Amino acid sequence: METLKNDKINITGICGIGGVGKTTMVKQVTVKAKKENLFDEIVMVVLGSSSTSLSNIQCQIADQLGLKLEGETLIERAACLRQRLANGKRILLALDEVSEELDLEAIGIPIQGENRGCEVVLTSEKDVICSQMGAQKKIQT
Ligand SMILES: Nc1ncnc2c1ncn2[C@@H]1O[C@H](COP(=O)(O)OP(=O)(O)O)[C@@H](O)[C@H]1O
Ligand SMILES: [Mg+2]
Repeated sequence: METLKNDKINITGICGIGGVGKTTMVKQVTVKAKKENLFDEIVMVVLGSSSTSLSNIQCQIADQLGLKLEGETLIERAACLRQRLANGKRILLALDEVSEELDLEAIGIPIQGENRGCEVVLTSEKDVICSQMGAQKKIQT
């Protein structure tokens, strides 16, 4: 919760072995963040062990936002999603069970910072994935 409120941290990684309580924690964080009105919109996607395609992740995010993804290609759809996610609203994006490094940029997920974008919380069994994905804060569970 502290890292969500910290402007300097836009990507938080929760890592630890299976069964330790990562999914439970990230769900509780979304509930608490909602209660505290920290965000305008909260999206949670569970990726799981089988590798989910980037376009499938795009669809899941778009569905939760009530967005119709325009475009045929991954790049066009990423542009559509990026526009929606960088619209100035405070958006929390939780990515649960990330099992391989994901290219957030390619999906169309803009990261908060100088530009408008999302606050991302991800969970992974692998510490290294949290680092590869640019987590400025890693929470070992
Ligand atoms: N803080 C906790 N105290 C007790 N049980 C917990 C706690 N956190 C999670 N659990 C239980 O442990 C199990 C695994 O939790 P889960 O969040 O699915 O772990 P992970 O996502 O790390 O694999 C679930 O049955 C969950 O209810
Ligand atoms: Mg889990």
